[in-house]
Amino acid sequence: MFKICLIGCGNHSTFVYGRALKKYQEERVSSVELAGCCDLDMPRAKKYQETFGFNNAYDDFNKMIDNVKPEALIAILPENLAAGLGVEIMGYKIPLLVEKPPGINTHENITLKQCAKQLDIPHLVNFNRRYTPMLKEVKKIFSGNTPDHIYYGMYRHKRLEKHFYTTAIHAIDAVRFLSGSDYKKVAFTYHEIPGTEAANIYIDGEMATGTKINIVICPNSGMVVECGTIAANNLFLNFNLPFNDKPTPAHKITLARDTIPEDVLIGHGDGYHISGGFYNCIAMFLDDIADKKYGLYKTAFDEALQSSRVAECIANREPMISF
Ligand SMILES: NC(=O)c1ccc[n+]([C@@H]2O[C@H](COP(=O)([O-])OP(=O)(O)OC[C@H]3O[C@@H](n4cnc5c(N)ncnc54)[C@H](O)[C@@H]3O)[C@@H](O)[C@H]2O)c1
Repeated sequence: MFKICLIGCGNHSTFVYGRALKKYQEERVSSVELAGCCDLDMPRAKKYQETFGFNNAYDDFNKMIDNVKPEALIAILPENLAAGLGVEIMGYKIPLLVEKPPGINTHENITLKQCAKQLDIPHLVNFNRRYTPMLKEVKKIFSGNTPDHIYYGMYRHKRLEKHFYTTAIHAIDAVRFLSGSDYKKVAFTYHEIPGTEAANIYIDGEMATGTKINIVICPNSGMVVECGTIAANNLFLNFNLPFNDKPTPAHKITLARDTIPEDVLIGHGDGYHISGGFYNCIAMFLDDIADKKYGLYKTAFDEALQSSRVAECIANREPMISF
């Protein structure tokens, strides 16, 4: 049996990871065991165990790992604790999947990268937009084309917290994914929202491939939307990512060639644990770990560094960065 343990049974974990893991286990019932889940809050861990079908609940991950000896770990922890606990967890030398951002600053991210390298730990950072059925389809449509321009909009409501850059990182990383390239240079404009620690953020940049990009991030816009437009030679595409369980019109890509539009429906009616890319991500990682394809997952902390550094510029209100 391939034994999986999960650490951190909080809000996000309950909304998407529990459901994604339950689906994963049900599809591989004879080979996969949800062996243990753990949270410092024992009633929360117990509820998670009962809801998603884990064998046991724990309030101490050391005890859980010693008892279960899992083949894979998933850790969905508070951002400010994720790097410190990540280093501690990697001491067990068990393949590990974590949420974005892996650490809250470059120093933490480099520490994680060095630790994984030194201990040779297979690992993956779930930048979930990369695994959404919708953006995977967008990538497929654009395969072989370098986009001329990418616009990515991230709109939220009442997200006035100072550390909003740890959410803004999704937009920054999605553009890297969609362009198939690292950033070359980026300039930021900040319009502070009076009476708060938040700002509307406007990002102009260029990718290493030459693609020009614009990202607009409005954390108090009255709506939760993430959308984008990509233009290439005779290829235009517009998407609007799904954000909840409801079958909304968002589950659609519109593209056009020679001015002739075409709609592509994506996963209409799927729950957010699927449409948000969480199931795809865990299934890819866990299947490959079960097949002992460890070599695929040795560089994820390294690859996360550039997206994390650009997001960190927002935290520091830096005006520009070049790579
Ligand atoms: N990808 C996305 O779209 C997205 C959305 C929301 C949150 N997140 C990420 O998910 C992560 C969790 O966020 P959340 O809002 O669910 O937080 P949360 O506070 O609701 O959950 C974190 C849980 O970790 C538990 N925990 C803390 N220390 C622990 C330890 N030592 N052992 C076991 N459990 C421990 C807490 O008790 C809590 O239940 C963050 O990294 C956040 O950035 C990602």
